[in-house]
Amino acid sequence: MTETAAEVFDAIGKDYETAFPDQHGRQAVLEWLLGRLSPGATIADLGSGTGRPVAETLAAAGHDVTGYDVSAKMVEIARAQVPAARFEQADLRTLTQPAGSRDVVTAFFSLLQMTRAEIDAVVAKVATWLVPGGWFVLGTVAVDADGVETSFLGHPIRSSSYPAGTFVARLEDAGLAVGYRELVRYESSHPAVRPEDQLYLAARRPS
Ligand SMILES: C[S@@+](CC[C@H](N)C(=O)[O-])C[C@H]1O[C@@H](n2cnc3c(N)ncnc32)[C@H](O)[C@@H]1O
Repeated sequence: MTETAAEVFDAIGKDYETAFPDQHGRQAVLEWLLGRLSPGATIADLGSGTGRPVAETLAAAGHDVTGYDVSAKMVEIARAQVPAARFEQADLRTLTQPAGSRDVVTAFFSLLQMTRAEIDAVVAKVATWLVPGGWFVLGTVAVDADGVETSFLGHPIRSSSYPAGTFVARLEDAGLAVGYRELVRYESSHPAVRPEDQLYLAARRPS
């Protein structure tokens, strides 16, 4: 029997940071993004985890950041660690936002713990939340899987994603234009983390 994302991440909590340190691809796309933003950009970080480093980095640069996460424990940790951002407990699959309300939406490794149909639905609604010219920045693992049972830091969970080219096509299907694409091999020194191909994409809503 698999566990839900809320159950898994409530149990992992801050250990996530020590299991997945030094994600250079994530840092690179964050720096690329920061170079393109006007001061005070409105940013939604989907699946904000512990708040570090994504919400913390964006808020420290002066942007207006709200993180959303289904795990009550992660929200509690993020609120304590990153007082410069807001954090709310919410399931991305049911989360709503006003159309055209965000300059940027980020989602790092938070669209993995759902089905492909749910990934597609989240991408489609994120595209409507962006202002014209706004960016959706995504980090994920590029793998051909739909609801595959796997072990994440010792927890049984179902996971889905797409190979890189298919993910690009999904963003384009949602009306976004991809302006950043990097595939990075990531290896953690944590014994329970296997090497993985991390995919980083940034896609823009046309002006
Ligand atoms: C692998 S962690 C990544 C955390 C953070 N984005 C980072 O890069 O460090 C995935 C996060 O997404 C959250 N998550 C997974 N599925 C979610 C869902 N359906 N709704 C909201 N949050 C979700 C988990 O609770 C977890 O905090």
